[in-house]
Amino acid sequence: MIAVVVLVFWVVRSADAQKFEGLALTPPMGWNSWNHFGCHVDEALIRETAQAMVLSGLRDAGYRYVVIDDCWQVARDTVGEIVPDPDRFPSGMKALADYVHSLGLKFGLYSDAGRLTCQKRPGSRGYEFQDARTYARWGVDYLKYDWCNHGDQNVVASYRTMRDALYQAKRPVVFSICEWGENKPWEWAAEVGHLWRISGDIRPAFVDRPKWGETVAGIVEIARKIRKYAGPDHWNDLDMLQVGNAGLTLSESRTHFSMWAMLASPLMAGNDVRNMPPEIAEILMNREVIAVDQDSLGVPALRWISRGNLDVWLRPLAHDEYALCVVNWGKKAERITLKLAGSEIEDEDFGVTYKIGRGLAVRDLWKHRVIGLTDEEIAVAVIGHDVAMFRLGREK
Ligand code: GAL
Repeated sequence: MIAVVVLVFWVVRSADAQKFEGLALTPPMGWNSWNHFGCHVDEALIRETAQAMVLSGLRDAGYRYVVIDDCWQVARDTVGEIVPDPDRFPSGMKALADYVHSLGLKFGLYSDAGRLTCQKRPGSRGYEFQDARTYARWGVDYLKYDWCNHGDQNVVASYRTMRDALYQAKRPVVFSICEWGENKPWEWAAEVGHLWRISGDIRPAFVDRPKWGETVAGIVEIARKIRKYAGPDHWNDLDMLQVGNAGLTLSESRTHFSMWAMLASPLMAGNDVRNMPPEIAEILMNREVIAVDQDSLGVPALRWISRGNLDVWLRPLAHDEYALCVVNWGKKAERITLKLAGSEIEDEDFGVTYKIGRGLAVRDLWKHRVIGLTDEEIAVAVIGHDVAMFRLGREK
């Protein structure tokens, strides 16, 4: 009798719709075509990018998902199947996914909850279950799902429908929600997807707002206010990286990358990784900064001190360690002296107080060396638009 009840419960539960749990216990990392290539995507680019991710070391630094954004799709066939652009993807998506997988990487695609994508390609509205089955057949591991041309659709229901469709197609897929933070996804999306965008599209700009889109500083400010909603398997997505794209200086790129890591954002490279100058590779593959992003505790940083153009951010890490980032949003050099051991920092969002311990090594994560102990006063100087980032930890 008990066995029958358990069996019935199990059958009912497994038929239940839910997201695939545990696919993003740390923020997803990978590459996405949009920021650099826009609509100019084809299979040669994706193959070359996947190869470059292996050869450059990006894959081994943790960047795993290769995601084709908008414009890979052109039509639906007579039975409603989504059709990849035959000129740009002549070998088809299954062959491309197989190739990406053969390099030890994972494969991702983009679609839209409305009838058309943002670039007016066919969206998934009305075809969610069919598309999810197609993606499973092709070997898709990651779906970015946009919100253009949704008419009067209900946002939560629309994203839940695709979640359910993916789940029923049985291939585990990281589900990336992209409705630009318009409907406060942090309040409802944790049970729907693994990450959600919190802003409009990131531009390669630091503080001054360009005509449209968000800046690095603008997105950090949005993320600061909603940090309590993020955690393992459900992340605030600060948007794809602009590191390596024209518009940001090296200092600004370092700040962009450091703050995405401090705030536990997914790290999706958005540059041309086939032609990556060494100084850009050094930023994207700073393993000590990546380790902060990927910390298993999954708590985003809080702003501890804000003094004019200077911010000091603190991120609690597993095993009572901390990451610290001093950001200079201004153009002129700034300095600050910090006494770390004994400092007590209230985290109102998470309802805890952090007490920084004595005897922790203060390790500079951009200079890759220990500069002192938490017991000592630490003098930090930061040039304009740059950061100094540290780990307060036990040296191994
Ligand atoms: C936007 C989205 C971008 C990109 C673009 C493609 O809505 O925020 O990241 O995917 O659509 O058309």
